[in-house]
Amino acid sequence: MNGYYTNIKLLLSDEIVAEVKATVRKMGTIPKYYYFNIDAVDRLVASHSTILSTQYGVHGTSMAISGDNIPHYDLSRQAALNFAIEDCGEGASTLFYVALPGSQMITLSGNSPGEKWGKVVYGPIRQVDSLTLTNNQCVLLNTDKLHVVRNYSRPNRIVLSIDCKVSYKEAYEYFANLGLIEFDILDSNRPVL
Ligand SMILES: [Fe+2]
Repeated sequence: MNGYYTNIKLLLSDEIVAEVKATVRKMGTIPKYYYFNIDAVDRLVASHSTILSTQYGVHGTSMAISGDNIPHYDLSRQAALNFAIEDCGEGASTLFYVALPGSQMITLSGNSPGEKWGKVVYGPIRQVDSLTLTNNQCVLLNTDKLHVVRNYSRPNRIVLSIDCKVSYKEAYEYFANLGLIEFDILDSNRPVL
């Protein structure tokens, strides 16, 4: 089991993809998460209600996003089920780190209702893994690990992110029991960064 992310064999319906794209078009450029409800996504969440929360958002990242450029632990969730919708690929990656001695952790909360923030880390860190999504990919992310999205060249990147109510390990076991783990890269086979 990779402790940072796992590919999940779930594919969004054309209906959901179309609705997410339409929502993004309506709301314009995405500076950070948008939270909203789409019936078709609600039904997807309801079908995995023991692990997924009804709170979800569309996440488009760009170089202009300040928040996501600071390595952090998500504050309000331990794991996320992310679906790559559009403009994902090389040039926009999620990087995972471990904090090293001498680093400082600071908790930041959002400025507006519903806005999420995280526990950010300043100081020495070491990258331990990375993930570059391709469109239509679904991954379970361990957002309880220190991570950041770096996007240097994909201004139209769209990711649908569904909060998990449980830990990454519990969500992993849930999907494993359903036979939905796409493949599992053993830690021993991971490149050492
Ligand atoms: Fe995050």
